[in-house]
Amino acid sequence: MNIKAFFDKNTSTITYVVSDETTHKCAIIDPVLDYDPLLGKITTNSADILIEYIKSNALYVEWILETHIHADHLTAAHYLKVKLGGKIALGANITEILKFWIPVFNTSQDTPLDGSQFDYLFKDNEHFSIGSLDVKVMYTPGHTPACISYLINDAIFVGDTIFMPHMGTGRTDFPGGSAEILYDSIQKILQLPPETRIFTCHDCPAEGASALYESTIKEEKKSNILINDGITKEEYIEKRRKRDQSMTVPRLLLPAIQVNMRAGYLGKAESNEIQYIKIPINKIGV
Ligand SMILES: [Fe+2]
Repeated sequence: MNIKAFFDKNTSTITYVVSDETTHKCAIIDPVLDYDPLLGKITTNSADILIEYIKSNALYVEWILETHIHADHLTAAHYLKVKLGGKIALGANITEILKFWIPVFNTSQDTPLDGSQFDYLFKDNEHFSIGSLDVKVMYTPGHTPACISYLINDAIFVGDTIFMPHMGTGRTDFPGGSAEILYDSIQKILQLPPETRIFTCHDCPAEGASALYESTIKEEKKSNILINDGITKEEYIEKRRKRDQSMTVPRLLLPAIQVNMRAGYLGKAESNEIQYIKIPINKIGV
């Protein structure tokens, strides 16, 4: 198994390409579509870097995987599927997210409530393959109700559940989020063998420093600032809730959610052939 990480500085996101060296099949996990919210401008530089890597290594994309519906970046899943093929997939509890957010955006005309805009919806504990690699899906809700992690051999891709030890864990103040549930999900992850490698979805390195994204179960249990072995569930919940209260709304929350619910498709163009991103007034944080 080969794991290649790509860091997007604008959204602090890490995208992975996981490939099977024997069959050259691969999966892309959590790809980013570049979006400038001031100009409403979409570009594909980040996704094109993935395409270049995949083509130059003669890889064949089997899957485009999301760990969840992200609130901090738009997904490039749709763009990459058009360019490279592959099935776009995520957890079946996505329907919970759709049920909450589609009425907010009033986008049911181009965003199905049943999740059929995605090619496949995974069940908990389901196995699938990337070439000859076996992947186990683990439901790890708490950051959102539909978060999942992908366990591939000795590596787990955890999305926004647990971060690097110095960063703590994902936030739990989005609709359907829960510090209590996230604690339980992270315990599930931490029960894996201590040498299991954890690949996280975000890092915020200081100017000039490199992004950090890989730790182990052992390191997290020893030194995660929010959820190490010496912290009880009650203490974690209190710390997490306190942190959540001080966090700002993600810059791309409203554009990201509505686009990501369509797997990265920007939605039906209006009669003037322009696609729009909608901002609901007085629906969030009031
Ligand atoms: Fe997230």
